Amino acid sequence: MSFQIAIDGPAGAGKSTIARRVSETLGFIYVDTGAMYRAMGLYFLARGIDTDDESAINASLPGADISLQILDGSQHVFLNGEDVSVRVRTEEAGMMASKTSRYAKNREKMVAMQQEIARTSNVVMDGRDIGTVVLPDAPLKIYLTASVSVRAQRRYQELLHKGQHPVLQEIEKDIEARDYQDMHREASPLRQAADAILIDSSSLTIDEVAARIVELAQDRMA
Ligand code: DC
Repeated sequence: MSFQIAIDGPAGAGKSTIARRVSETLGFIYVDTGAMYRAMGLYFLARGIDTDDESAINASLPGADISLQILDGSQHVFLNGEDVSVRVRTEEAGMMASKTSRYAKNREKMVAMQQEIARTSNVVMDGRDIGTVVLPDAPLKIYLTASVSVRAQRRYQELLHKGQHPVLQEIEKDIEARDYQDMHREASPLRQAADAILIDSSSLTIDEVAARIVELAQDRMA
């Protein structure tokens, strides 16, 4: 039997950094489900598909082959054979993912892949609907959040370090828009599962949050 840790929460709460850290400590596979929706976002973008046109989105779904591979210990995401792991990280891909992940058919395709991975491996999986829809029976569910201003500040610092010239107010607006879209869509909106443990990372370090989750996992595996 595999053990699953589901980590959900809004954009910029630190899910992926923390999920990666926890997976390394426990020797689990880390599955970044956002990267899958982002790869789909790139696919729709390349085809010039209108994000409001659900039937065009649905009709184009069979043409997108998404797969995950672990290379040198980290997850790579492939879109029709191309490694798009770097390209999926742009703001444009993130916004496109947020806009198109609201469609049920798109989600069905991703959820089936995610469930198959978790069936056979110990995983730390992060996203928006992992505890509520993808792995409703996961033995450990975390809802990780942080205030909008803390999340914007973190993203701002990250972009500065990459040599970009971010505008804090724009990042804040972007985060608020993404939160709204993710929480108010009809299909699997972002929400805390009833049995998820809430962690607010606003005043905690990555190490503190990761250590807390590892401890909870070890308790539940014992
Ligand atoms: O976690 P992220 O920023 O990489 O996710 C990008 C978008 O994908 C996010 O705005 C909403 C969507 N997403 C989703 O709907 N369900 C998931 N399990 C993961 C991401």
